[in-house]
Amino acid sequence: MTAKKMFTREEFEELRRESAAGMAADQGLRQKALEVLVEADKHRWIHQTTWLGEPILNLPQDMFALQEIIYRTRPKYIVEIGVAWGGAMLFFSTLMEILGGEKIIGVDIYMPPDLKERLASHGRLSQRLELINGASLDASTLDKVRSIVGECREVMVILDSYHTHEHVLNELNAYFPFVGKGQYLVCCDTIVEDIPEQEHRTREWGPGNNPKTAVLEFLKHHPEFQVDHPLENKLLFTCNPSGYLVHKG
Ligand SMILES: C[S@@+](CC[C@H](N)C(=O)[O-])C[C@H]1O[C@@H](n2cnc3c(N)ncnc32)[C@H](O)[C@@H]1O
Repeated sequence: MTAKKMFTREEFEELRRESAAGMAADQGLRQKALEVLVEADKHRWIHQTTWLGEPILNLPQDMFALQEIIYRTRPKYIVEIGVAWGGAMLFFSTLMEILGGEKIIGVDIYMPPDLKERLASHGRLSQRLELINGASLDASTLDKVRSIVGECREVMVILDSYHTHEHVLNELNAYFPFVGKGQYLVCCDTIVEDIPEQEHRTREWGPGNNPKTAVLEFLKHHPEFQVDHPLENKLLFTCNPSGYLVHKG
C-alpha cells in the first residue's frame, strides 16, 4: 500500500493557488462556466441566494469571496451601495459579529417600510446596520456616509446599484476615497460585459456600457487599485470578474 501524501498547510496553500491559476487559464472550462451563467440567468439564478431568510441578489460564490476578503482585511465599515432585500447586509453583520467591526452602511433609492422592519428584527445583528435612503451620488448621501465613517479608512465599499458605465464610473470616483490601503472596492455585475444582451429583461446596460467598462476606465487613472486575480482565479462562477479591486497603496 502506498502512503498517502500528507501536505503541510503551506504546501496545501501553494497547491490551492496553483490549481486556481490553472483553472483560470483553462479557457474551455471558463467558457463552459460562462455558458452556464448565461443560461441560468434566464431563470434568475442569482435571485436564489438567501442569508437568514433574506434574499441576496448575488451568487453564493461571490458572497464567499466577500467573506474571504472580510476575514483577511477586517474592515471596520462596509458600505453597500444597492441594498435590495437586505440579505447581504445581514450576511456582513453576521461576519462582523464574529470578527469585529463597527457598521454596515446600506444605501438605496428604494427602501420600503417592510425592508426596514425586517432588517430591524435580527437582534444584535440589526444594531450594526445603518440604512441611508437616497441616491448613491447625491451629495447628501455622501455626506451621511462621511459622517458615519469619519476619518476611518478601514472601509470596504461594494458598488451594486445602477449598472451603466457612466453611473458606475461616477460611483467609483465618489467612493474610492473611503477605501484605505489594504481594503477593497468591489464593483458588482462586471459580467455584463461578457454576456449577450438579456432578452428576458431589458436593461439600460449591456456589452460596452456596464460596470466592467467603468472599472477598466477607473483603473487607468488609479494604479493604486488592482484587480485581485488570485481571488478571482478560484471562483469560476462569478458575476464580478475584474470587480474585486484591492487598494495596494
Ligand atoms: C442589484 S440590486 C442590489 C443587490 C444587493 N447588493 C444584494 O447583494 O442583494 C440593485 C439595487 O440598487 C438600487 N439602486 C438603483 N439605483 C440606485 C442609485 N442611484 N442609488 C442607490 N441605489 C440605487 C435599486 O433600488 C436596487 O435595490
